[in-house]
Amino acid sequence: MKKILAPSILAADFANLQRDVEMVNNSEADWFHIDIMDGVFVPNISFGMPVLKAIEKHATKFIDVHLMIVNPDQYFKTFAELGANMLTVHYEACTHLHRSLQSIKAEGMQAGVALNPHTNVQLLKDTIKNIDMVCLMSVNPGFGGQHFIENTYQKVRELKQMINEQNANTLIEIDGGVTNQNAQQLIEAGADVLVAGSYVFGAENPTQTIADLKQMMNN
Ligand code: DX5
Ligand code: ZN
Repeated sequence: MKKILAPSILAADFANLQRDVEMVNNSEADWFHIDIMDGVFVPNISFGMPVLKAIEKHATKFIDVHLMIVNPDQYFKTFAELGANMLTVHYEACTHLHRSLQSIKAEGMQAGVALNPHTNVQLLKDTIKNIDMVCLMSVNPGFGGQHFIENTYQKVRELKQMINEQNANTLIEIDGGVTNQNAQQLIEAGADVLVAGSYVFGAENPTQTIADLKQMMNN
């Protein structure tokens, strides 16, 4: 399967959001990665529903929404209506994760689970078959532009082994600090989806940077 690149809109220029969304539309990128932060689960507030609505109006690609919020279940229906294709909740924010996954799917979306850097992948052993994607945080969630945590490679390998052993159909996404320095190694370890924010939008030529990353990932 072709590896997926998901530019993170958190690093876009919010005053030129339509331009940046169209840049992604016209690039080799596969998905939009949208970070929703509530200032409670993470020490930062990003943006909410009206901004997602504005993005969705112009986006022509798959929308991958990463919820860094407490009590996410109350908003599943709203995110489905706003056009989310994948909805990812944090393991650390869900007391009844199995139920949350069922509810996301009942709204017609794919269901993802994100793990903070300190959270062991083995905690997903009993529900991996219900998860469409695991997002391994390779930085502490809350901010773009942080340094990649090296221990992530080990987590990818361990998770990949669990997925294979259970014959699950689960994608592995890596989120945080992805650059041309680690993309290839992450794919070799077993990653399927790479999120890249500041590396893409901070580049002089984001379209070319996306093309170069994609080539690196699919070689
Ligand atoms: C961090 C967010 C990431 C962030 C990645 O909490 O979940 O998606 O936008 O940004 P970079 O690629 O700059 O680390
Ligand atoms: Zn994210």
